[in-house]
Amino acid sequence: MKQTQTDWEDAYQRRETPWEKGKPHPGLVDFLAENGPLVGEIFVPGCGSGQDVRALSTPDNRVVGVDLAPFAIRKAMARRKIAREEYSLADLFALPAALDGRFDWVFEHTCFCAIDPARRDEYVATIVRLLRPQGRLLAIFFINPDHDEEGPPYRVSPAELEKYFGGYFSVEREWIPARTHPGREQRELMRVLVRV
Ligand SMILES: C[S@@+](CC[C@H](N)C(=O)[O-])C[C@H]1O[C@@H](n2cnc3c(N)ncnc32)[C@H](O)[C@@H]1O
Repeated sequence: MKQTQTDWEDAYQRRETPWEKGKPHPGLVDFLAENGPLVGEIFVPGCGSGQDVRALSTPDNRVVGVDLAPFAIRKAMARRKIAREEYSLADLFALPAALDGRFDWVFEHTCFCAIDPARRDEYVATIVRLLRPQGRLLAIFFINPDHDEEGPPYRVSPAELEKYFGGYFSVEREWIPARTHPGREQRELMRVLVRV
């Protein structure tokens, strides 16, 4: 597998950002409409320009979006605040220990498939570290089994999800989102995972 370091900031500056849809993921919107807002402290890795962060944010929770691309974080911060959401320019793999165990929820959407597959163990270890015991990961995994070896997005399959997350999380719910961004139909898996 070809391993290259993705220059995310460069992609944003060139406007080569096909993941930017100008709105939150419809599957997240539907989940929140059906189940109510997520409560407590919520962490969003690779939040981009913050569409999902804003969808998650209410006056009763606190959402923290992290991204390593300054362009994305500037764009997110330029938007009018919904409630108490915050953004931080940071590398997911170099977060301060002060964040350990702080979060009730992590919301994952096209971050896991975006990182170098060689770092997937590290990604999962980071999410586990951030969550409180019994904390939950709400994930929209981009399952792209027909994708070639080059990414991002890198290949993700249900078997790989089990391999990386299975030892740390139990699956509370799993479904294919009824609504998604055009072109992603039947290529995503939503899960609520509970940290065991
Ligand atoms: C495919 S984009 C998805 C952005 C957003 N989740 C969305 O769906 O609109 C992946 C994002 O992850 C960010 N990212 C990649 N590696 C990261 C890391 N190590 N730490 C923090 N953010 C990272 C990129 O800058 C980019 O914004």
